[in-house]
Amino acid sequence: MRIIVLGSAAGGGFPQWNSACAVGGRAWWHDPAARWRTQCSLAISADDQRWVLLNASPDLRQQILATPALHPKAAPRHSPITAVLLTNGDIDHVAGLLTLRESQPFDLYATAAILDVLAANPVFDALNPAYVARHRMALDEAIEVAGLTVLAFAVPGKVALYLERGEPVIGGEGEDTIGLEVRAGGKRFYFVPGCARLTDGLAARLAGAPLIFFDGTLWTDDEMVRSGTGAKTGARMGHISVSGPDGSLAALASLDVGRKVYIHINNTNPMLLDDSPERAVVLRAGWEVAHDGMEVRL
Ligand code: MLT
Ligand code: MN
Repeated sequence: MRIIVLGSAAGGGFPQWNSACAVGGRAWWHDPAARWRTQCSLAISADDQRWVLLNASPDLRQQILATPALHPKAAPRHSPITAVLLTNGDIDHVAGLLTLRESQPFDLYATAAILDVLAANPVFDALNPAYVARHRMALDEAIEVAGLTVLAFAVPGKVALYLERGEPVIGGEGEDTIGLEVRAGGKRFYFVPGCARLTDGLAARLAGAPLIFFDGTLWTDDEMVRSGTGAKTGARMGHISVSGPDGSLAALASLDVGRKVYIHINNTNPMLLDDSPERAVVLRAGWEVAHDGMEVRL
């Protein structure tokens, strides 16, 4: 199985169009320690021919250009992208579907809740149903996709920001936010780009995994408030922090995971900077920080 990180940043990317905070500013000034990153997505393949996208980010066109495996291989029209799986309805995970219009066949998989979100928004009718089949992923039922066995599981989360009306339920475990287990050829990994907290059930699922890509949105819960970039805490956004007693570094420390990679990293998170003390803490704890173009073979 090949896994290519198409994008490693959270919504907005790194740098984000309107953010020149202490971390993002260094990216805008082209500091080599602040490597640019596009929005969160993986491309995976069991056979090097058919590629499956985990989320379709607003940067998808740029990500395809940067990834030879995803270039057309035959005239006049072709794409190695045969399927797209969604982990939630957030803009940073679904807007790239609009890049995949143009009457190209592929299969789209999401939970019923997220398929409803897409169906309620006519802009996604740009994906012609004669070419793009929409498939419902039931929780905890494995499906076969392009030689991969994929299982969707509920992760504590919330509805997409643009669907919030009043105070949303945060940390609910249903079909709004899922993680994915991917298996092929006796290998497996987990993709959990959004997670409000580590429940006992999720910890048990991830324990002993050879590889996980996990929510690295914020370093501290109040990071956006303190950096003046936003009013919300990570908890309010449905993202567990990396640091602190309740953070993911502590929560996953004893799970015996072979390779732990942070992904979906916000432009305010100091661990994005190669030379930051926060990056050193993460590396010392045995984690990696995903970067665009990173490839893992299992
Ligand atoms: C999130 O990860 O919380 C969302 O992508 C936020 C957003 O939609 O801007
Ligand atoms: Mn996001």
